[in-house]
Amino acid sequence: MQSEPTRNLALELVRVTEAAALNAGHFMGRGDKIGADKAAVDAMRLILSSIQMDGIIVIGEGEKDEAPMLYNGERVGSGGPPEVDIAVDPIDGTRPLAEGIQNSISTVAIAPRGKMFNPGPFVYMHKIAVGPEARDCIDIEAPVEENLRRIAKAKNERIENLVVVILNRPRHEALIREVRTAGARIRLIQDGDVSGALMTAWPDSGIDVLLGIGGTPEGVLAACAIRSMGGNLQGKLFARNEDELRRGREMGYDFEKVLTLDDLVASEDVFFAATGITNGELLRGVTYSHNGARTDSLVVRGLTGTVRQITASHSLEKLDRISRIQYQAPVLDD
Ligand code: FBP
Repeated sequence: MQSEPTRNLALELVRVTEAAALNAGHFMGRGDKIGADKAAVDAMRLILSSIQMDGIIVIGEGEKDEAPMLYNGERVGSGGPPEVDIAVDPIDGTRPLAEGIQNSISTVAIAPRGKMFNPGPFVYMHKIAVGPEARDCIDIEAPVEENLRRIAKAKNERIENLVVVILNRPRHEALIREVRTAGARIRLIQDGDVSGALMTAWPDSGIDVLLGIGGTPEGVLAACAIRSMGGNLQGKLFARNEDELRRGREMGYDFEKVLTLDDLVASEDVFFAATGITNGELLRGVTYSHNGARTDSLVVRGLTGTVRQITASHSLEKLDRISRIQYQAPVLDD
């Protein structure tokens, strides 16, 4: 059915992630995770408030490490339609940012009200993510080797040529062994599995699949982007201990249930934006100069499948004149 062109909220969302990245980028390598998070959250909240929407934060962040947060249930936007659910990760990769290493981004996604999976207080999930060619062949419950065999077949490749991206964590020792036994190659990342998932759907990234346990907020955010980009992501909640399992069951969560892309975000009408804070393989980090700053972002709209890459140059001096956020780096005392 044909219709008139409609508003692309992702083009407004990119201002949110740009602002968060610009404000948090000054913290690169300063060892201050909390300060960086606060800078990103403050900027994100301010710009979100300017967007015409009635938004509820369904996926906020911070509970896990008590960071300053855009909390779950917080209403954002200027009010009025559309009614939307919002997932935010002001900084995916707080540690790399604080340490000045690669792969830290700021990211936001929006879906119509009630269409986003709410993971409650449960912070981890198993994930498998792939790009469009392999979208119909994955099964998070199948053995690793079986998934890799199917992905290789779908991509007309040998398993030996596949690259699996995995968070470098002790909990993934067995997974890494299984991938090696199957013969595939591995790219270990220290942090940032939203980027890891996105790379599977990004042409020429050299990454074929993401496997392993990562954050649930990051899982839902990645699902919004992957869905829009034609790939697939499945998840399964992961309980860290018996107590979490019991609490989950009391709250009606099923840790055995496979969360399909439809469970994670039940609408095509999604919007996603991400801006690099430190350099990564997908997005360059913020660079500052005496003239201002430059940001590199990704803007995705589910309904049309349009993916935009936006490089923006910002005059921090002008922004500082009109904004409540002070974007220029604070001058350090001697
Ligand atoms: P934050 O910077 O938002 O804390 O997340 C970084 C991250 O690497 C995510 O990309 C990933 O999903 C999660 O942490 C994994 O959790 P953990 O570091 O506890 O293994």
